[in-house]
Order: sequence, then structure tokens, then C-alpha cells
Amino acid sequence: MLDKTTAAVILLIVFSAVLVQCEENATDSFLPLKKAGHCISEKCQLPNCRCSGLRLPSADFKEHVKEIPQLITVTFDDAVNVINYEQYQQVFDGLVNPDNCSVRGTFFVSHEYTDYTLVNALYQQGHEIALHSVTHGSGTDYWREADVQVLMAEFGQQIDMLVKFAKVNRKHIRGVRLPFLQISGNNTYEAAKRLGLLYDSSWPSQRNPPMWPYTLDYRSTQDCQIGPCPNAAIPGFWVSPMVTWFDTVGYSCAMIDGCIFPPKDEVDTLFEWMVDNFKRHYDGNRAPFGMYLHAAWFQRGRHYFEAFRKFLLYVNTLPDVYLTTASGVIHYMKHPTLGKPFPGCPKKPNTTCIKRNCGLRKMETGETRYMNVCDTCPSVYPWLGNALGETEHY
Ligand SMILES: *[C@@H]1O[C@H](CO)[C@@H](O)[C@H](O)[C@H]1NC(C)=O
Ligand SMILES: *[C@@H]1O[C@H](CO)[C@@H](O)[C@H](O)[C@H]1NC(C)=O
Ligand SMILES: *[C@@H]1O[C@H](CO)[C@@H](O)[C@H](O)[C@H]1NC(C)=O
Ligand SMILES: *[C@@H]1O[C@H](CO)[C@@H](O)[C@H](O)[C@H]1NC(C)=O
Ligand SMILES: [Zn+2]
Repeated sequence: MLDKTTAAVILLIVFSAVLVQCEENATDSFLPLKKAGHCISEKCQLPNCRCSGLRLPSADFKEHVKEIPQLITVTFDDAVNVINYEQYQQVFDGLVNPDNCSVRGTFFVSHEYTDYTLVNALYQQGHEIALHSVTHGSGTDYWREADVQVLMAEFGQQIDMLVKFAKVNRKHIRGVRLPFLQISGNNTYEAAKRLGLLYDSSWPSQRNPPMWPYTLDYRSTQDCQIGPCPNAAIPGFWVSPMVTWFDTVGYSCAMIDGCIFPPKDEVDTLFEWMVDNFKRHYDGNRAPFGMYLHAAWFQRGRHYFEAFRKFLLYVNTLPDVYLTTASGVIHYMKHPTLGKPFPGCPKKPNTTCIKRNCGLRKMETGETRYMNVCDTCPSVYPWLGNALGETEHY
């Protein structure tokens, strides 16, 4: 048996080694951040570097714009619950891409009020599960001023929650969207890169023709709508610009539900408006077309859902239109091709989730929260600082 002092010394050594290891990682390639320089396309090559801009995925594509597959992403933000889950099922019901692979959406999930068993169900259906923070914050100031530590906690701990409670494979969690689309300059991108993520989808762009996704190796030429925007080099990290829509009086909107003057609440009028926005991409440079919204938008007008479905059914008849995930778009950007965008169909994950309904005390407020998770209930309501809801934290 070791005596207590020896044991303590050994522990201390092990502990210091861990600390050194952590510090080593913290001081790796991107601390201090380097200011991003002008992008030279000869130096910035696919698959891991792409200059920002309005140009096509590859110079050889110029004469073949009509052969560039038109990618569409449908993304929903915030908590997944039993009500919006049913709508999500209806949104994607029966849609199949021209390559016979199933149509997939992207869910930027925030923690509070999320039913993790339904996140697991969406995941198993092949949809992408991405990050939208643990707390969602109390307003834009919180996110504008967030430093790298706060951002790593908000998104890193949310990864832990999705892995534990929804049984999402950690390596399938690739992207982030900031609440209120409020980025905080370099910090957002530094945190996301350090967490091993691949892309951000928070940064609106009103540029016309629309922007393609690009990496932050070099200075971004994207318009900065909600600053501060980054100006450091974050190598290999992708920005998927949220190309804005235009409402009926010409105001731009990064998210469909942010459009102030949508058309009259009639199926055909709404449908035509969506087609107009889509045509700027489809008849233009074929940059990916984003349909970014919250399920609550469907409740805003009697015909909103029907119009949305009508639009999806319409684009789904076009032979060169593919409804894919946000990370599917990045995958394409890394390996752009004319014609068929993807080599095969992505494999659907197969996990087992035994549903548990857990009544849990939320320590911060003393309320009881009910939360559905896979397999095992946590001890208390999980929150920032105690992502797995363990008792020992208190
Ligand atoms: C540091 O990086 C190494 C290799 O990249 C990794 O194995 C290790 O887990 C990291 N340590 C910490 C504390 O992040
Ligand atoms: C981002 O990082 C660059 C490079 O270190 C620095 O020059 C710039 O001031 C930073 N921007 C902000 C908003 O912190
Ligand atoms: C898709 O499936 C249909 C019917 O099963 C078939 O006719 C068609 O050739 C398939 N298309 C591709 C690209 O595999
Ligand atoms: C999923 O995995 C289970 C057990 O591992 C297996 O019985 C089932 O057939 C699998 N389902 C699919 C669709 O692969
Ligand atoms: Zn949100």
C-alpha cells in the first residue's frame, strides 16, 4: 500500500501533467490569433480552404452554371418538442432527392424544453443535429460579449448533452448557429474551431448574387450585418453565409420568420414569393439556398404551412435540386462536382433509445422540469455548469 504522502505526490504529478497537456493544447496553432490576410486562391485550395466570394465552386464551372446542382437547406432552430416534431414529420414527408437519397433537414437545437428522445428520432431519420447553445442566453448582449470560455461552455456542454441524452454520435455534431444570430467577432469562431466543429451558420449576407460558403483561412469579404464579425484567421473553419431573403417591400431577412412584410396569407401568394427568392439562386449562380426558420412560423398564418409544403413539393420535382443538410453543403463545397452532388446516400445512424420521462429539480430556480431523455435520468435538471445533471455538483 502507498502511504498517503506518496499517493498525494503521485496524484499531484498526474494532475500537473494533465494541466500541462491542457495548456499545450490551448496554446496550439491559433493562440495568439493571426490577423487574416488577403485571400490568394492559389494558396487557398480545396478541400480545406476556400476564399470567400460569389464565384462558383470551381473556376471550370463558369461555362456550366446550369449543371451545378442546386442545394437547399431547410433548418429549424430551438427546442425540439412533441408539437413541432409532428410538424417536422409533415414537412419532410415523402420527399426524395433526384439521387433517390432521402431528403434531410438540419436542427439547431437549444437545450431548455427539448425532448431528447425526439432529437434521437430525428437523428435516426437522417436529419442533422447541430448546436444552438445550452441556455439560449437572455438577449443579444450576452452573445455579443461572450468570450471564448463562455462560448466553449455553451456549445461544448451542449454537445455532451446531445451525446448523453439523445445518443447522437459526437462526431456527427458539426455545426453551430448562435442565438439571435449574434456572433462575437473572433471569439465565436475560435471557440467553434476549438470544439472541433466544422461550420458556422449564423452570419447573414445580403450580397447579390448570393455568397457561397468559404473558410476563414483568409479575410472574409462577406458583408457584416450583425457585428462584430471576425477578422482573425481560423484555418479550415467554414462559414455558411445565411443568404437573406427579401420580403414584399424589399427588406432583407436572414430567417424567413424575420421577414417583416411577407405577402398575403394565401397559399399561392406565399408560394410565389418563395419561388421568387429561390430563383435568385436557381436562375443565378446556384449558391446554396437556405430556408431558415422556427416551427412557430407555421402558426403565424393559416396558409403558411401549406405554402411551405407546396414549395418543397415543387422544388422536389426539379431534376437538379437537392434538399440536404448544412454539413451536406460543406461536404459538397469540399468536393464540388457538376451534376450529381454526392457519391452515395449517407448512412442513417442506428441507435437504441429507451425513453425515460424525468421530473427534475432545476437548481437555479427551484422549479421542477420534466425532460425526456434516452436510457437514464439525470439527478437534477442539466444546465450550464452541470451538463449531465449530476448531484455531486451541488
Ligand atoms: C490535447 O491534444 C491531444 C492531441 O491532440 C489530445 O489527445 C488530448 O486529449 C488533448 N488534451 C486536452 C486536455 O484537451
Ligand atoms: C481578432 O483577431 C485579430 C488577430 O489577432 C485582431 O487583430 C482583432 O483585433 C481581433 N478582433 C476582435 C474584434 O477582437
Ligand atoms: C430512383 O428510383 C427510381 C424508382 O425506384 C428509378 O427509376 C430511378 O432510376 C432511380 N434513380 C437513380 C438516380 O438512382
Ligand atoms: C439497428 O440495430 C439493431 C440492433 O443493433 C438491429 O436489430 C436492427 O436491425 C438495426 N436496424 C437497422 C435499420 O439497421
Ligand atoms: Zn433560437
